[in-house]
Amino acid sequence: MQKKFYITTPIYYVNDKPHIGHAYTNIVSDVIARFKRLDGYDVKFLTGTDEHGQKVEKSAQKYSIQTQEYVDKIAQNFINLTKDLNLSNDDFIRTTENRHKNFVQSVWQKLINNNQIYLGKYSGWYSIRDEAYFLESELVNGNAPSGAPVEWIEESSYFFRLESFQQKLLNFYKDNPDFIHPESRKNEVISFVKSGLKDLSVSRTSFKWGIKVPNDENHVIYVWLDALFNYISALNENKASFWPANLHVVGKDILRFHTVYWPAFLMAADLPIPKRIFAHGWWTNNGEKISKSLGNVIDPYNIIEKYGLDYFRYYLIREITFGNDGNFSEDSFIEKINSELVNKIGNLIFRTVNLIYKNCEQKIPTPDEFNEKDSKLLTDAYGAIFKIRNYLDEQSLKQMLEVIIVLSNNANVFIDEEAPWKLKTTDFKRMCTVLYVISEVIRIIALLLQPFIPHTAENILDYFKIKQRSFDAVSKSHCINPGTVLNEPEIFFKKIEIEKN
Ligand code: ME8
Ligand code: MG
Repeated sequence: MQKKFYITTPIYYVNDKPHIGHAYTNIVSDVIARFKRLDGYDVKFLTGTDEHGQKVEKSAQKYSIQTQEYVDKIAQNFINLTKDLNLSNDDFIRTTENRHKNFVQSVWQKLINNNQIYLGKYSGWYSIRDEAYFLESELVNGNAPSGAPVEWIEESSYFFRLESFQQKLLNFYKDNPDFIHPESRKNEVISFVKSGLKDLSVSRTSFKWGIKVPNDENHVIYVWLDALFNYISALNENKASFWPANLHVVGKDILRFHTVYWPAFLMAADLPIPKRIFAHGWWTNNGEKISKSLGNVIDPYNIIEKYGLDYFRYYLIREITFGNDGNFSEDSFIEKINSELVNKIGNLIFRTVNLIYKNCEQKIPTPDEFNEKDSKLLTDAYGAIFKIRNYLDEQSLKQMLEVIIVLSNNANVFIDEEAPWKLKTTDFKRMCTVLYVISEVIRIIALLLQPFIPHTAENILDYFKIKQRSFDAVSKSHCINPGTVLNEPEIFFKKIEIEKN
């Protein structure tokens, strides 16, 4: 049976249009999903929108429209974004869908039956922007740690017995050292849990926009208990086949919800726990987190319009060591694209194709015997998949691209040293071999680029008439066919010209 891989993004609040942070999580997850598909897995890739809660209700009120009408409109922006980023998601879940609401209510019932929820009274601080409760001791200058204002609430509430999960969670982290990535985030979570857990308020009565508590219509279910279960509700009837998920990609802002509440909810409902939570860092604008609530967003559409989608995808993955924060800057964008995609990979392809087109009757030449240097370069190229696969398994995405860049660099050095343009008259056979070797390396580079820049990689593979595109083809046995007819040389990576004012 084909191995399965289930990957998710967070589901986004529909309180405003998407920005670069959402684009980033989406693209990162898409790269991983595409990689796994090409690597032979049966992949499910889910994204969606989180449409309940006070924050969303308030946003709708701001525009004085019906909440349902409002969420339909904003959710559509996030659906459009999946298309505009060329995401390969298999599904898009909205928490206002019946499949989700019904599932969450059934989970609630299960938690009641398992005696994990009881009715009590809540009084304490709540941040609407974070949709989270805070202890007095956690407040910073009277605000939530995120800087969001908090309000005092006192209401009848159902509670989840979170306190009883302290030891179970600590044991779980110990037995599953791969659950939280990167490593640095793990300590943060463990010390939070060690500092003591309190039962969690999981229903609200002071507003209406949420999933109703079964058999107690005055309460709506806490938006995080509702939202987290999207990862399972979206699996429809074949839940067991993809659950537990292999990877939830999230931002570090929602680490606690995914590494503390989520496994506790699942244990309480007798459900398996996902394999890994990866919490990435934040894109900042002048050092401040880019956020809808703060209003300092960078619109992904502006960047895509200006530079093209594949350059945008490449930059996001290449700029940040996955897990760290990063500052968005157009200067470094242009620098990365021009120095790597254009000068290294683009140049390699363009000069090779031109030489073949001019000197080999527009056909991939037939090679003679490979010498040691040829074999070394080819072995490096075929070996790249092993390195890249290892990096993927630890979500070191930037390093995956590094492997491809290094390979391209080596191929450029090879072509400089072999100087096939000189061989034309002195040793035609050797020229053919050199150009063949480079073509084969370009085939491997294009195959490996597919998850990152799918559209451009497809163009290159089409140009070279490469049919087999899964990662099985990264081997000698699928080598490029001598005699393949090439069309007029194309430029696959256009240089970004710097605007002069
Ligand atoms: O938290 N840099 O939704 P949300 C990088 N609905 N990533 C960023 C970012 C930034 N500056 N800003 C946002 C919620 N993100 C909940 C999630 S999941 C069951 C419920 C990304 O709309 C990042 O992935 O606030 C972050 O975790 C997510 O958007 C938060 O989106
Ligand atoms: Mg947020």
